[in-house]
Amino acid sequence: MASPKEFHGWLGRDNKAAEGNMTWSAFQPKPFSAIDVDIKISHCGICGSDIHTLRSGWKSTRYPVCVGHEIVGHVVRVGDQVRHLKTGDRVGVGAQAFSCLKCEDCKAGLEQHCSRMVGTYNGKYPDGSFSMGGYADYARVPAHFAIKIPEQLESGDAAPMMCGGVTVYSPLKKNGAGPGKRVGIVGLGGLGHFGVLFAKALGCEKVVVISRRRNKEKDAREMGADDYIATAEDEKWARKHSQSLDLIISTVSSPDMPLESYLRLLRTNGTFIQVGAPEDKLPRIGAYSLIQKGVKVGGSNIGSPKEIEDMLKFAAEKGIKPWVEQRDMKDANKSVVDMEDGKARYRYVLVNADQPDRAKL
Ligand SMILES: NC(=O)c1ccc[n+]([C@@H]2O[C@H](COP(=O)([O-])OP(=O)(O)OC[C@H]3O[C@@H](n4cnc5c(N)ncnc54)[C@H](OP(=O)(O)O)[C@@H]3O)[C@@H](O)[C@H]2O)c1
Ligand SMILES: [Zn+2]
Ligand SMILES: [Zn+2]
Repeated sequence: MASPKEFHGWLGRDNKAAEGNMTWSAFQPKPFSAIDVDIKISHCGICGSDIHTLRSGWKSTRYPVCVGHEIVGHVVRVGDQVRHLKTGDRVGVGAQAFSCLKCEDCKAGLEQHCSRMVGTYNGKYPDGSFSMGGYADYARVPAHFAIKIPEQLESGDAAPMMCGGVTVYSPLKKNGAGPGKRVGIVGLGGLGHFGVLFAKALGCEKVVVISRRRNKEKDAREMGADDYIATAEDEKWARKHSQSLDLIISTVSSPDMPLESYLRLLRTNGTFIQVGAPEDKLPRIGAYSLIQKGVKVGGSNIGSPKEIEDMLKFAAEKGIKPWVEQRDMKDANKSVVDMEDGKARYRYVLVNADQPDRAKL
Protein backbone atom coordinates (compact mmCIF):
# COMPACT_ATOMS: atom_id res chain seq x y z
CA MET A 1 0.00 0.00 0.00
CA ALA A 2 1.18 3.50 -0.71
CA SER A 3 -0.49 6.88 -0.77
CA PRO A 4 -1.35 8.74 -3.96
CA LYS A 5 0.13 12.12 -4.92
CA GLU A 6 -3.25 13.79 -4.70
CA PHE A 7 -5.94 13.05 -2.14
CA HIS A 8 -9.66 13.33 -2.72
CA GLY A 9 -12.31 14.60 -0.36
CA TRP A 10 -15.53 16.54 0.09
CA LEU A 11 -14.55 20.18 -0.29
CA GLY A 12 -16.57 23.06 1.08
CA ARG A 13 -16.09 26.07 -1.20
CA ASP A 14 -18.06 28.82 0.53
CA ASN A 15 -20.20 29.46 3.59
CA LYS A 16 -23.12 27.58 2.01
CA ALA A 17 -21.15 24.33 2.12
CA ALA A 18 -23.05 23.01 5.16
CA GLU A 19 -26.30 23.25 3.22
CA GLY A 20 -25.32 20.18 1.21
CA ASN A 21 -22.96 21.87 -1.25
CA MET A 22 -19.63 20.14 -0.69
CA THR A 23 -18.08 18.73 -3.85
CA TRP A 24 -15.90 15.60 -4.12
CA SER A 25 -12.62 16.85 -5.57
CA ALA A 26 -8.88 16.32 -5.63
CA PHE A 27 -6.71 18.31 -3.25
CA GLN A 28 -3.04 18.58 -2.45
CA PRO A 29 -2.13 17.51 1.08
CA LYS A 30 0.65 19.23 3.02
CA PRO A 31 4.15 18.34 1.74
CA PHE A 32 5.18 15.03 3.34
CA SER A 33 7.80 15.49 6.07
CA ALA A 34 9.84 13.13 8.23
CA ILE A 35 7.43 13.47 11.17
CA ASP A 36 4.30 12.70 9.13
CA VAL A 37 2.19 9.67 8.42
CA ASP A 38 -0.32 9.07 5.64
CA ILE A 39 -3.53 7.35 6.64
CA LYS A 40 -5.97 5.55 4.37
CA ILE A 41 -9.22 6.65 5.95
CA SER A 42 -11.87 4.06 6.67
CA HIS A 43 -14.12 6.09 9.00
CA CYS A 44 -14.73 9.72 9.89
CA GLY A 45 -17.30 11.04 12.35
CA ILE A 46 -19.29 14.24 11.81
CA CYS A 47 -18.69 16.70 14.65
CA GLY A 48 -20.64 19.89 15.34
CA SER A 49 -17.41 21.80 14.76
CA ASP A 50 -17.39 20.62 11.12
CA ILE A 51 -20.62 22.52 10.60
CA HIS A 52 -19.50 25.70 12.39
CA THR A 53 -16.42 25.63 10.11
CA LEU A 54 -18.23 24.83 6.86
CA ARG A 55 -20.46 27.87 7.33
CA SER A 56 -17.68 30.20 8.62
CA GLY A 57 -19.64 30.45 11.85
CA TRP A 58 -16.71 31.18 14.18
CA LYS A 59 -14.52 33.16 11.82
CA SER A 60 -13.89 33.20 8.09
CA THR A 61 -12.95 29.71 6.97
CA ARG A 62 -10.26 29.33 4.36
CA TYR A 63 -11.96 27.63 1.41
CA PRO A 64 -11.69 25.12 -0.09
CA VAL A 65 -11.87 23.22 3.18
CA CYS A 66 -12.14 19.49 3.79
CA VAL A 67 -13.60 19.06 7.28
CA GLY A 68 -13.70 15.96 9.48
CA HIS A 69 -11.60 15.39 12.59
CA GLU A 70 -12.82 12.08 13.92
CA ILE A 71 -10.65 10.02 11.64
CA VAL A 72 -9.81 6.32 11.79
CA GLY A 73 -7.81 4.44 9.19
CA HIS A 74 -4.62 2.55 8.47
CA VAL A 75 -1.13 3.95 8.18
CA VAL A 76 0.17 3.62 4.62
CA ARG A 77 3.30 5.79 4.73
CA VAL A 78 5.61 6.62 7.61
CA GLY A 79 8.08 9.52 7.86
CA ASP A 80 11.73 8.71 8.65
CA GLN A 81 11.59 10.22 12.14
CA VAL A 82 8.42 8.43 13.24
CA ARG A 83 9.16 5.74 15.82
CA HIS A 84 5.83 4.71 17.34
CA LEU A 85 3.91 3.78 14.18
CA LYS A 86 4.43 1.46 11.24
CA THR A 87 2.66 0.76 7.99
CA GLY A 88 -0.55 -1.15 8.56
CA ASP A 89 -1.23 0.21 12.07
CA ARG A 90 -4.81 1.25 12.73
CA VAL A 91 -4.83 4.79 14.10
CA GLY A 92 -7.17 7.62 14.94
CA VAL A 93 -6.74 11.38 14.57
CA GLY A 94 -8.83 13.90 16.48
CA ALA A 95 -9.24 17.65 16.16
CA GLN A 96 -5.56 18.51 16.53
CA ALA A 97 -2.83 17.78 13.98
CA PHE A 98 0.17 19.78 15.19
CA SER A 99 1.75 21.55 18.15
CA CYS A 100 5.31 22.75 18.76
CA LEU A 101 6.13 19.96 21.29
CA LYS A 102 8.64 22.33 22.95
CA CYS A 103 6.67 24.94 24.89
CA GLU A 104 5.61 24.76 28.53
CA ASP A 105 2.15 23.42 27.62
CA CYS A 106 3.44 20.80 25.21
CA LYS A 107 6.05 19.61 27.71
CA ALA A 108 3.33 19.29 30.33
CA GLY A 109 1.24 17.09 28.04
CA LEU A 110 -1.17 19.91 27.28
CA GLU A 111 -0.59 20.00 23.52
CA GLN A 112 -4.17 21.11 22.92
CA HIS A 113 -3.35 24.45 24.57
CA CYS A 114 -0.10 25.09 22.65
CA SER A 115 -0.14 28.56 21.08
CA ARG A 116 1.07 26.97 17.84
CA MET A 117 -1.64 24.29 17.79
CA VAL A 118 -2.93 23.47 14.31
CA GLY A 119 -6.38 21.98 13.89
CA THR A 120 -6.88 18.93 11.71
CA TYR A 121 -8.63 21.12 9.13
CA ASN A 122 -8.75 24.83 8.34
CA GLY A 123 -5.37 25.25 10.07
CA LYS A 124 -2.01 26.44 8.79
CA TYR A 125 1.15 24.39 9.38
CA PRO A 126 4.47 26.13 10.06
CA ASP A 127 5.52 25.35 6.45
CA GLY A 128 2.63 27.51 5.22
CA SER A 129 0.49 24.62 3.96
CA PHE A 130 -3.08 24.09 5.13
CA SER A 131 -4.52 21.19 7.08
CA MET A 132 -7.24 19.11 5.41
CA GLY A 133 -9.57 16.80 7.29
CA GLY A 134 -11.17 13.40 7.05
CA TYR A 135 -14.20 13.55 4.73
CA ALA A 136 -11.66 12.14 2.32
CA ASP A 137 -9.83 9.06 1.10
CA TYR A 138 -6.50 9.85 2.80
CA ALA A 139 -5.16 12.10 5.54
CA ARG A 140 -1.61 13.33 6.12
CA VAL A 141 -0.77 14.41 9.68
CA PRO A 142 2.22 14.69 12.01
CA ALA A 143 2.42 11.26 13.66
CA HIS A 144 2.39 12.64 17.22
CA PHE A 145 -1.34 13.20 16.73
CA ALA A 146 -2.11 9.77 15.26
CA ILE A 147 -3.04 7.42 18.08
CA LYS A 148 -3.19 3.64 17.91
CA ILE A 149 -6.66 2.17 18.36
CA PRO A 150 -6.96 -0.78 20.78
CA GLU A 151 -7.98 -4.00 19.08
CA GLN A 152 -11.22 -4.37 21.06
CA LEU A 153 -12.71 -1.17 19.60
CA GLU A 154 -14.45 -1.15 16.25
CA SER A 155 -13.26 1.57 13.91
CA GLY A 156 -16.75 3.04 13.56
CA ASP A 157 -17.00 3.36 17.34
CA ALA A 158 -13.49 4.69 17.85
CA ALA A 159 -13.85 7.41 15.20
CA PRO A 160 -16.29 9.70 17.09
CA MET A 161 -14.30 9.21 20.29
CA MET A 162 -11.34 11.01 18.70
CA CYS A 163 -13.02 14.40 19.16
CA GLY A 164 -16.53 14.00 20.56
CA GLY A 165 -15.46 11.40 23.10
CA VAL A 166 -12.32 12.96 24.44
CA THR A 167 -13.87 16.43 24.64
CA VAL A 168 -16.13 15.21 27.44
CA TYR A 169 -13.86 12.49 28.85
CA SER A 170 -11.14 15.06 29.57
CA PRO A 171 -13.21 17.52 31.66
CA LEU A 172 -14.98 14.67 33.45
CA LYS A 173 -11.61 13.25 34.53
CA LYS A 174 -10.05 16.65 35.29
CA ASN A 175 -12.98 17.59 37.50
CA GLY A 176 -13.15 14.42 39.53
CA ALA A 177 -16.15 12.66 37.99
CA GLY A 178 -16.45 9.32 39.77
CA PRO A 179 -18.03 7.65 42.81
CA GLY A 180 -19.88 10.08 45.03
CA LYS A 181 -20.18 12.73 42.31
CA ARG A 182 -23.43 13.89 40.77
CA VAL A 183 -22.91 15.00 37.20
CA GLY A 184 -25.14 16.85 34.74
CA ILE A 185 -24.69 16.72 30.98
CA VAL A 186 -26.31 19.57 29.04
CA GLY A 187 -27.28 18.83 25.42
CA LEU A 188 -27.79 15.25 24.30
CA GLY A 189 -25.98 15.30 20.96
CA GLY A 190 -22.74 13.63 19.89
CA LEU A 191 -20.64 15.02 22.75
CA GLY A 192 -23.47 14.83 25.28
CA HIS A 193 -24.16 11.15 24.68
CA PHE A 194 -20.48 10.40 25.25
CA GLY A 195 -20.78 12.45 28.43
CA VAL A 196 -23.47 10.12 29.75
CA LEU A 197 -21.61 6.95 28.71
CA PHE A 198 -18.30 8.05 30.23
CA ALA A 199 -19.79 9.54 33.42
CA LYS A 200 -21.61 6.28 34.07
CA ALA A 201 -18.54 4.16 33.28
CA LEU A 202 -16.50 6.34 35.68
CA GLY A 203 -18.89 5.31 38.43
CA CYS A 204 -20.57 8.65 39.11
CA GLU A 205 -23.26 8.50 41.76
CA LYS A 206 -25.84 10.18 39.55
CA VAL A 207 -25.89 11.26 35.92
CA VAL A 208 -28.55 13.73 34.82
CA VAL A 209 -29.25 14.75 31.23
CA ILE A 210 -30.37 18.33 30.73
CA SER A 211 -31.93 18.58 27.30
CA ARG A 212 -34.39 21.01 25.75
CA ARG A 213 -37.20 18.58 25.10
CA ARG A 214 -38.39 15.28 26.46
CA ASN A 215 -38.06 13.40 23.15
CA LYS A 216 -34.61 11.99 23.99
CA GLU A 217 -35.46 10.78 27.49
CA LYS A 218 -35.87 7.11 26.61
CA ASP A 219 -32.51 7.09 24.83
CA ALA A 220 -30.84 8.95 27.70
CA ARG A 221 -32.05 6.40 30.24
CA GLU A 222 -30.94 3.55 27.99
CA MET A 223 -27.48 5.15 27.92
CA GLY A 224 -27.51 5.06 31.69
CA ALA A 225 -28.86 8.45 32.75
CA ASP A 226 -30.50 8.41 36.18
CA ASP A 227 -32.60 11.49 35.62
CA TYR A 228 -33.67 13.79 32.80
CA ILE A 229 -34.60 17.47 32.71
CA ALA A 230 -36.36 19.02 29.70
CA THR A 231 -35.70 22.74 30.01
CA ALA A 232 -38.21 23.81 27.34
CA GLU A 233 -40.98 21.64 28.73
CA ASP A 234 -40.59 21.20 32.49
CA GLU A 235 -41.98 24.01 34.57
CA LYS A 236 -39.78 25.48 37.27
CA TRP A 237 -37.07 22.92 36.48
CA ALA A 238 -34.28 25.15 37.77
CA ARG A 239 -35.95 25.59 41.14
CA LYS A 240 -37.04 21.96 41.39
CA HIS A 241 -33.53 20.64 40.73
CA SER A 242 -31.52 23.43 42.35
CA GLN A 243 -28.38 22.46 44.26
CA SER A 244 -28.41 18.89 43.00
CA LEU A 245 -25.19 18.55 40.98
CA ASP A 246 -21.45 18.73 41.66
CA LEU A 247 -20.33 19.07 38.07
CA ILE A 248 -22.04 20.12 34.86
CA ILE A 249 -20.57 19.64 31.39
CA SER A 250 -22.38 21.74 28.80
CA THR A 251 -22.13 20.66 25.17
CA VAL A 252 -24.69 23.17 23.92
CA SER A 253 -23.76 24.54 20.51
CA SER A 254 -26.07 27.57 20.55
CA PRO A 255 -25.73 30.79 22.56
CA ASP A 256 -29.44 30.54 23.26
CA MET A 257 -29.13 28.71 26.58
CA PRO A 258 -30.45 29.37 30.12
CA LEU A 259 -26.96 29.61 31.61
CA GLU A 260 -27.96 31.15 34.94
CA SER A 261 -30.55 28.42 35.41
CA TYR A 262 -27.93 25.75 34.71
CA LEU A 263 -25.78 27.30 37.44
CA ARG A 264 -28.67 27.04 39.88
CA LEU A 265 -28.41 23.27 39.55
CA LEU A 266 -24.94 23.29 41.12
CA ARG A 267 -24.27 22.51 44.75
CA THR A 268 -21.94 24.67 46.83
CA ASN A 269 -18.46 24.80 45.25
CA GLY A 270 -19.80 23.11 42.13
CA THR A 271 -18.20 23.42 38.71
CA PHE A 272 -19.70 24.23 35.32
CA ILE A 273 -17.60 23.42 32.25
CA GLN A 274 -18.58 24.68 28.82
CA VAL A 275 -17.32 22.59 25.91
CA GLY A 276 -19.96 23.46 23.31
CA ALA A 277 -18.69 26.33 21.18
CA PRO A 278 -21.55 28.63 20.08
CA GLU A 279 -20.87 31.10 17.30
CA ASP A 280 -21.97 34.02 19.46
CA LYS A 281 -21.18 35.06 23.02
CA LEU A 282 -22.56 33.13 25.98
CA PRO A 283 -25.45 34.73 27.91
CA ARG A 284 -24.61 37.30 30.59
CA ILE A 285 -24.55 36.03 34.14
CA GLY A 286 -25.03 37.96 37.34
CA ALA A 287 -22.11 37.94 39.79
CA TYR A 288 -24.25 36.43 42.51
CA SER A 289 -24.88 33.36 40.36
CA LEU A 290 -21.19 32.66 41.01
CA ILE A 291 -20.67 34.22 44.42
CA GLN A 292 -23.55 32.81 46.38
CA LYS A 293 -22.56 29.17 46.13
CA GLY A 294 -18.92 29.71 45.26
CA VAL A 295 -19.34 28.03 41.90
CA LYS A 296 -16.69 27.95 39.18
CA VAL A 297 -17.33 28.36 35.46
CA GLY A 298 -14.71 27.07 33.03
CA GLY A 299 -14.07 25.53 29.64
CA SER A 300 -12.16 22.64 28.16
CA ASN A 301 -10.50 22.12 24.79
CA ILE A 302 -10.60 18.61 23.23
CA GLY A 303 -7.94 16.36 24.85
CA SER A 304 -4.22 15.70 24.54
CA PRO A 305 -2.86 12.67 22.65
CA LYS A 306 -2.22 11.03 26.04
CA GLU A 307 -5.79 11.66 27.15
CA ILE A 308 -7.06 10.20 23.87
CA GLU A 309 -4.95 7.11 24.46
CA ASP A 310 -6.25 6.79 28.04
CA MET A 311 -9.84 7.27 26.89
CA LEU A 312 -9.54 4.61 24.18
CA LYS A 313 -8.08 2.18 26.71
CA PHE A 314 -10.83 3.00 29.21
CA ALA A 315 -13.53 2.60 26.53
CA ALA A 316 -12.07 -0.75 25.50
CA GLU A 317 -11.88 -1.99 29.10
CA LYS A 318 -15.40 -0.85 29.96
CA GLY A 319 -16.90 -1.99 26.65
CA ILE A 320 -18.28 1.46 25.91
CA LYS A 321 -20.51 1.36 22.87
CA PRO A 322 -21.35 4.73 21.34
CA TRP A 323 -24.62 5.25 19.50
CA VAL A 324 -23.42 5.59 15.95
CA GLU A 325 -25.14 5.60 12.60
CA GLN A 326 -22.75 4.67 9.82
CA ARG A 327 -23.27 6.33 6.46
CA ASP A 328 -21.45 5.90 3.17
CA MET A 329 -18.82 8.58 2.54
CA LYS A 330 -20.69 9.46 -0.61
CA ASP A 331 -23.63 10.61 1.54
CA ALA A 332 -21.55 13.28 3.31
CA ASN A 333 -23.69 16.19 2.11
CA LYS A 334 -26.97 14.66 3.24
CA SER A 335 -25.40 13.63 6.53
CA VAL A 336 -24.14 17.13 7.27
CA VAL A 337 -27.62 18.52 6.56
CA ASP A 338 -29.24 15.87 8.78
CA MET A 339 -26.70 16.60 11.53
CA GLU A 340 -27.51 20.31 11.33
CA ASP A 341 -31.22 19.43 11.58
CA GLY A 342 -30.52 17.60 14.86
CA LYS A 343 -31.39 14.18 13.44
CA ALA A 344 -28.21 12.33 14.47
CA ARG A 345 -28.78 9.62 17.08
CA TYR A 346 -26.17 10.34 18.22
CA ARG A 347 -23.23 10.46 15.82
CA TYR A 348 -22.99 9.99 12.08
CA VAL A 349 -19.83 8.22 10.97
CA LEU A 350 -18.91 8.34 7.29
CA VAL A 351 -17.48 5.11 5.95
CA ASN A 352 -15.25 4.76 2.92
CA ALA A 353 -16.25 1.82 0.81
CA ASP A 354 -13.24 0.99 -1.27
CA GLN A 355 -14.19 2.44 -4.60
CA PRO A 356 -11.26 3.24 -6.86
CA ASP A 357 -13.46 5.42 -9.07
CA ARG A 358 -14.46 7.58 -6.13
CA ALA A 359 -12.71 10.54 -7.78
CA LYS A 360 -15.50 10.52 -10.34
CA LEU A 361 -18.31 10.97 -7.83
N1 LIG B 1 -14.51 22.28 23.41
C1 LIG B 1 -14.10 21.50 22.44
O1 LIG B 1 -12.93 21.14 22.38
C2 LIG B 1 -15.07 21.00 21.43
C3 LIG B 1 -14.82 19.79 20.76
C4 LIG B 1 -15.78 19.28 19.91
C5 LIG B 1 -16.96 19.99 19.69
N2 LIG B 1 -17.14 21.18 20.32
C6 LIG B 1 -18.39 21.94 20.15
O2 LIG B 1 -19.39 21.30 20.94
C7 LIG B 1 -20.67 21.60 20.41
C8 LIG B 1 -21.48 20.32 20.33
O3 LIG B 1 -20.96 19.46 19.34
P1 LIG B 1 -21.71 18.10 18.97
O4 LIG B 1 -20.91 17.48 17.90
O5 LIG B 1 -22.04 17.35 20.18
O6 LIG B 1 -23.06 18.69 18.33
P2 LIG B 1 -24.54 18.08 18.37
O7 LIG B 1 -24.49 16.61 18.20
O8 LIG B 1 -25.32 18.89 17.40
O9 LIG B 1 -25.05 18.39 19.86
C9 LIG B 1 -25.31 19.68 20.32
C10 LIG B 1 -26.49 19.64 21.29
O10 LIG B 1 -26.69 20.96 21.78
C11 LIG B 1 -28.06 21.10 22.16
N3 LIG B 1 -28.63 22.38 21.72
C12 LIG B 1 -29.11 23.34 22.54
N4 LIG B 1 -29.57 24.38 21.87
C13 LIG B 1 -29.40 24.10 20.58
C14 LIG B 1 -29.73 24.79 19.39
N5 LIG B 1 -30.32 26.00 19.39
N6 LIG B 1 -29.42 24.20 18.21
C15 LIG B 1 -28.83 22.97 18.18
N7 LIG B 1 -28.50 22.28 19.30
C16 LIG B 1 -28.80 22.84 20.48
C17 LIG B 1 -28.80 19.91 21.57
O11 LIG B 1 -29.13 19.06 22.65
P3 LIG B 1 -30.65 18.84 23.16
O12 LIG B 1 -31.46 18.52 21.94
O13 LIG B 1 -30.49 17.70 24.09
O14 LIG B 1 -31.08 20.10 23.82
C18 LIG B 1 -27.80 19.24 20.66
O15 LIG B 1 -27.98 17.87 20.61
C19 LIG B 1 -20.41 22.31 19.09
O16 LIG B 1 -20.53 23.70 19.29
C20 LIG B 1 -18.98 21.93 18.77
O17 LIG B 1 -18.34 22.88 17.94
C21 LIG B 1 -16.23 21.67 21.19
ZN1 LIG C 1 3.72 23.89 22.23
ZN1 LIG D 1 -14.90 17.94 16.94
